[in-house]
Amino acid sequence: MTDYITRANRFLHEIAPYLIGAYTVNEVINRVSQYNEDHHRAVQIAHGATRIALITSDYVIKFNYGDDVNEYGGCEEEEEFYAYACEEGFGAYFAATTGTTVSGRKFWIMPRASGVGRVWLYRNVPAVVYEWIIDHVYDLHNGNLGMIDGHVVIIDYALNTLNDPQA
Ligand SMILES: Nc1ncnc2c1ncn2[C@@H]1O[C@H](COP(=O)(O)OP(=O)(O)O)[C@@H](O)[C@H]1O
Ligand SMILES: [Mg+2]
Repeated sequence: MTDYITRANRFLHEIAPYLIGAYTVNEVINRVSQYNEDHHRAVQIAHGATRIALITSDYVIKFNYGDDVNEYGGCEEEEEFYAYACEEGFGAYFAATTGTTVSGRKFWIMPRASGVGRVWLYRNVPAVVYEWIIDHVYDLHNGNLGMIDGHVVIIDYALNTLNDPQA
């Protein structure tokens, strides 16, 4: 069986040509609609303050708004923090993020979580884990939490103490 990263890479090679020059939500919606029509798929689009997410049944593709990574960061910071959380032994509480470059553009692959917006961290992770997470990650609202394999995971941890916006 192929894993989600293999499937996501295959998808990225198909969709990247559609996304050339598309940096706003509206542009991405139009291009993804065309892709869905051409490929008989139903890829959904979600977005937050800093990123656009293409949602499929088992993986999510994230990319920053704009083409200047320094202006609208997010995904790079998340990738860096994921490595740090793994080193510290807390990787299991974060949806893994894997960066890749396709057609000269950077994308990040994440497993799809369910229950986004309906999941709480408090009391659903061990107390020491809860403490570590709230000490290191900002913006821990329900829209940034989900479930993977029956466990609560953080799906948006771009704002973290490695890249303190207040510092
Ligand atoms: N792993 C995921 N599984 C399911 N939905 C996701 C996942 N990652 C992001 N999303 C959806 O995409 C939205 C935007 O992604 P997010 O990483 O929160 O971007 P931002 O940093 O701009 O807030 C989320 O609020 C959520 O609805
Ligand atoms: Mg978010």
